[in-house]
Amino acid sequence: MLYTLYTLFPDLILPWTQEAIIGRAVEAGLVSFNLRNLREHAQNKWNRVDESPYGGGAGMVLRVDVAARAISEAKAMEPAPDEIILLSPAGEPFSQKIAEELAQKQHLCMLCGRYEGFDARLEPLVTREISIGDYVLMGGEIAALTLIEATARLIPGVLGDQESHQQDSFATGLLDYPEYTRPPDFEGNIVPEILASGHHAKVKQWRREKALERTFLRRPDLLETAALSSQDLKFLETLKKVKAES
Ligand code: ADE
Repeated sequence: MLYTLYTLFPDLILPWTQEAIIGRAVEAGLVSFNLRNLREHAQNKWNRVDESPYGGGAGMVLRVDVAARAISEAKAMEPAPDEIILLSPAGEPFSQKIAEELAQKQHLCMLCGRYEGFDARLEPLVTREISIGDYVLMGGEIAALTLIEATARLIPGVLGDQESHQQDSFATGLLDYPEYTRPPDFEGNIVPEILASGHHAKVKQWRREKALERTFLRRPDLLETAALSSQDLKFLETLKKVKAES
């Protein structure tokens, strides 16, 4: 996977591509990065990329012609970008499903805004607009890194065997079950006995129930789209009854 990022701060992104799992994936040739400074496409004496908004108001707006030149450059790359993504709080909400879809691609190009964002005439020039949540960041860089983190881990070989089971647990559409490690007793808070029982089928069932319970309590909206067995549904019924009685 090739990630091309257009940003005013490529040096902010660079360290992220050099360490930990992403750094290893780069070394292994599984992912690569093209970090581009949007300012290189400014084409004016002062290298200006922003202007005040038409109609007045606070802040500065990023110029569409600057972004359009960046997009033309990206389109000439090999392979050409499969998606040109604008990171913006007005975009479609990012999700695991979108991450799975994007992880199949070969080249993702992302545009990171700053200030009040880009001139609205950029919208028809991109293939999608994505938001990472209902809050406003100071720029699109952290949002782009979020897309990178969520997609790169889905590329075969990026996670080792040790790590890849985590992927499976979210694929169910439920929140993850709680994990425990040593010490067995932390200030009187004891690890659930079943986890040390060595009884794999019971551990599996317990984990499934905990995932269902957590999702029921914290994110009931996820239950509407999760793949649930008849046994899961029965268990959820008991949770609902307990809740109604309490
Ligand atoms: N830029 C600023 N806020 C953002 C958000 N929530 N998602 C994506 N890009 C952004």
